[in-house]
Amino acid sequence: MSVIGDFLRSIAGISETKVLDPEQWQLDANVVTIKIDQVPALQRHGGAVCLKGKGLKDPVLVVCDHEGVYRSFSNKCTHFGRKLDPVPGKPVLRCCSVSHSTFDYLGNNLSGPAKKPIRVYLTELKNGELAIVM
Ligand code: FES
Repeated sequence: MSVIGDFLRSIAGISETKVLDPEQWQLDANVVTIKIDQVPALQRHGGAVCLKGKGLKDPVLVVCDHEGVYRSFSNKCTHFGRKLDPVPGKPVLRCCSVSHSTFDYLGNNLSGPAKKPIRVYLTELKNGELAIVM
């Protein structure tokens, strides 16, 4: 993306990560499940999707990291609540706002105005299905 395009997206608070069609995931009690073979964005390293709705308290960011490990986070920056995106090739999440707070994969705030960590959810891949415990 161009520098100007990135800046305009930041002003508008638009995340690069797409919201996953609610038909492609389930919430049962406190566990979200996703069939990986139905979600191309989660079949490549560095891919990610956002889950929202269906009774989730906060949106959830699901990442297939640069090493192919699945991770899930509260998708709500602890500064003013904007959404997060994975940073390509790095174990870092970045807020889509102009201030661009960053967080590590343990949820710790690394830089920017966010002063609190984000929630990290237990995430496990089993038999092609991702289970995320809220
Ligand atoms: S909302 Fe994330 S840095 Fe401001």
